[in-house]
This record gives sequence, C-alpha cells and structure tokens, in this order.
Amino acid sequence: MKASSVDEAVRAQERAMLDDIASQLAGFGKERRNLIPILQMVQERHTYLASGALKMVAEHLQTAVCEIYGVATFYNQFRFHPPGKHHIKVCLGTACHVRGGDIILENFERKLGIRDGETTPDREFSIERVVCVGCCALAPVAIVDENVHGQVAPSKVEGLVLGFQIEKEKEEREKQENESGR
Ligand code: FES
Repeated sequence: MKASSVDEAVRAQERAMLDDIASQLAGFGKERRNLIPILQMVQERHTYLASGALKMVAEHLQTAVCEIYGVATFYNQFRFHPPGKHHIKVCLGTACHVRGGDIILENFERKLGIRDGETTPDREFSIERVVCVGCCALAPVAIVDENVHGQVAPSKVEGLVLGFQIEKEKEEREKQENESGR
C-alpha cells in the first residue's frame, strides 16, 4: 500500500474511532469519578488511548487534557499507541537481561525506527518490553505475534523483520495483480 493510502486509511479509522467514543461518552456522567471507567471503555473498544480520544474525554469531564493524561500515564494498564499488526514483546526479566535482552530490544528499535511502547507509522509493528515470561532457560526471549523465540541473537532480529517485510510485499503484489485483473 502506498504511504498516502496508508495515511488515508489511518485517518478514516481514527474518525470512526472518535465517532464511536463520542456516542459512548453520552452514556457516562460528567463526574470526575467516571474517568477511569471511561478510559477503560476507550481502551477496551479501541485497544489504546489516542490523543484525540483523551481530548474528548477531557471535554466531556470539563477538565484539562494534561490532567487526564497525568492520570492515564499513572496506570500501566493503558496504552497510548495502537498495537501494530505484528506485536513484538522483548523480555527484560533478570535472566533475559543478563543474556543481552536489552541489546535485542535495541536491535528491534533500530531496525524498525521506533522505541519501546511505540508503533510504526504504517501500523505494521509495535514493540513492548515485558518482564519474565516464564521461559528463562531460553533467554534472551522475544515473543512475536504470540510465538516464543528463544536465544534470540541480533541476526535473528534481522531475519524476523525481513521475513515480515517480504510477506507484506508479496501480499501487496498479489493485491495489485488482483485489482489490475478485475
Ligand atoms: S527473564 Fe525472560 S523469560 Fe524469564
């Protein structure tokens, strides 16, 4: 997909999300005690708290956006970026940290051009650091789309990302071929 059509699709998705949040907000009172339930509702329905959504919540509760943001960032249950199509979790528990988990995280960040907690602009990839995922014998560990990868080396990071990129190019080529064959 070209960058402009990706942007268009993302904008349309965001508009639909904000419309949905506006209709849901009507069911909540304007009291401050509704803040956490509202944030949970937004995340449950849309997987993250977009800045536009936080602005709407602030308007609904007649309070400053920075105050809403302050409360939301206090709880680590809330996400501020949409999860990518491929979500990468890098374990930084003790065993993984000792075996170079932070180097693996850095490799994913450098390769994808995003930091921990962020999503690539085309929403293909997101990265999250996690604590022990329970398979320390395989350290360092990364979980990609729920598949566990053990003894991850920097070359494996390259290979994983490259594999997804090749898969995406193939899908786009097939899509274009189907469209031109219509
Ligand atoms: S510390 Fe990474 S799996 Fe336990």
